[in-house]
Amino acid sequence: MLIAERPTMTNLRSDLRLILLGPPGSGKGTQAQYICRVCDVGHVSTGDLLRRNTQKGTELGKTAAEIMKAGELVPDELIHEMLAALYERSGGEGVGFVLDGFPRAESQAQALEEYLTERGQSIHKVLLLELADDAIVGRLVHRRTCPKCGKSYHLKASPPKVEGRCDEDGTKLVWRPDDTEDVIRNRLATYHKQTEPVAEFYRKRGLLASIDAARPIDEVREQITVLLESLKS
Ligand code: AP5
Repeated sequence: MLIAERPTMTNLRSDLRLILLGPPGSGKGTQAQYICRVCDVGHVSTGDLLRRNTQKGTELGKTAAEIMKAGELVPDELIHEMLAALYERSGGEGVGFVLDGFPRAESQAQALEEYLTERGQSIHKVLLLELADDAIVGRLVHRRTCPKCGKSYHLKASPPKVEGRCDEDGTKLVWRPDDTEDVIRNRLATYHKQTEPVAEFYRKRGLLASIDAARPIDEVREQITVLLESLKS
């Protein structure tokens, strides 16, 4: 059974801390937007933060742009610095969040664990969106994104209501420069080599939950909803 869009869920912890893991194009951004809406927690996407820095022309953005275009990972120290600043600004303790695109190397998972432990906090659940490589290229070459609110569209599976414009704010949708077939294949290779061990890191801690991300968007959302219901206090 498919579910209609739900209002904010009640009885969820206001400090719910989740991680979305998964290969490029598995739907992390799409589902993070849904989770944040129903759980009323913040969305932290390291990819979006880096792209925003690139748009603003910061030193971090200039360094990151070249690395992202090659489909590789931005060095840990730059990512950790950016996240620590964001965490402090967001009010820190008592604030729930969904991390999308972080951690994506075991070193980042370890750093996050230490950072949260020092603050008496931990991650509540890690959702692994599983999708085979074959399905990914088709998804990403048809993706368009809103540069203002970050909402993703798929020109075939979930097109905007008005061609080329964001449903939320009417902004002109853009195509990401790392969504070419060659770069997507490099991003996939990087994922298998550096990010897959992160799933194992959380599996060992009993935090990992697998989601079948090959299903249509609302069916993936339904699997996530069931999981969120199980996290209610
Ligand atoms: P990032 O921006 O995080 O990209 P990514 O992980 O490659 O993931 P994507 O944003 O491409 O996909 P997604 O899983 O969010 O899917 P989406 O929901 O958009 O990172 C980009 C780069 O930044 C990295 O390569 C790296 O260089 C750097 N970086 C970022 N974080 C870093 C870190 N921590 N350390 C170091 N470097 C870092 O969906 C994709 C498309 O499919 C959309 O069109 C959507 O509408 C559609 N879709 C979604 N779900 C479905 C479905 N179920 N069925 C059909 N279509 C669907």
